[in-house]
Amino acid sequence: MLDLTAEELLVTTRAVRLRLDYERPVGRDVLRRCVEIALQAPSGSNRVPIQFVIVTDPDLRAALGEDYRERYAAYQASPGYIGSIDKGDTAANAQQQRTARSADHLAATIHRAPAIVVACGLGGLEGQAPHRIVASAGSIHPGMWSFMLAARLHGLGTCWTAVSLAPGARTPSLLHIPDDVTVGALTPVAYTQGTSFKPALRPDPDSVIHWEGW
Ligand SMILES: Cc1cc2nc3c(=O)[nH]c(=O)nc-3n(C[C@H](O)[C@H](O)[C@H](O)COP(=O)(O)O)c2cc1C
Repeated sequence: MLDLTAEELLVTTRAVRLRLDYERPVGRDVLRRCVEIALQAPSGSNRVPIQFVIVTDPDLRAALGEDYRERYAAYQASPGYIGSIDKGDTAANAQQQRTARSADHLAATIHRAPAIVVACGLGGLEGQAPHRIVASAGSIHPGMWSFMLAARLHGLGTCWTAVSLAPGARTPSLLHIPDDVTVGALTPVAYTQGTSFKPALRPDPDSVIHWEGW
């Protein structure tokens, strides 16, 4: 386990794409421990709907990688692509372009991660009201983020990804995920090359706080 304070853990858990060690295996015990920690996250009505599909089989990872690349190509061509977003200042735009290059690299190599973890939630979203959809995501995402924080503590790198959630993605069928289960996020998991990560450039807190109302 890394010797990090809680604050250090929170400010240095990055989206790791360029420093994933694809050669070093990741054991089931450490993945299971990260899930055990993730299950302490909050969920609506304490239903704990989160489920984890963990893939280590190379053929299945290859198929997931192929699906990821197809969806990523569509995302790359869209106005929402990370590299198309103008952050409004030079330093932030330079960081954005670096992140885009690293996202492109992950798309090309994700199948090589020793494990790919997909966080799901019991219950479908079909016909649900927007507030229910937000609540459903709110019962999956805290757990997935806890999984990622736990992974970092154990020397593992992760990267939240959403392209495999796009309509037409084959990931759910490749993993035999039932129709009434929602896919929340997918991450590669691998030991990181080095364990030192820095806080990222983020907005000033005063630019996002609306004291006593918007
Ligand atoms: C909802 C969501 C969707 C994301 N989708 C992707 C994705 O499909 N591919 C990818 O490489 N990164 C994806 N990311 C990772 C973001 O690019 C990353 O969190 C952001 O750039 C900040 O990275 P940093 O913490 O290392 O600064 C996603 C993150 C979130 C929260």
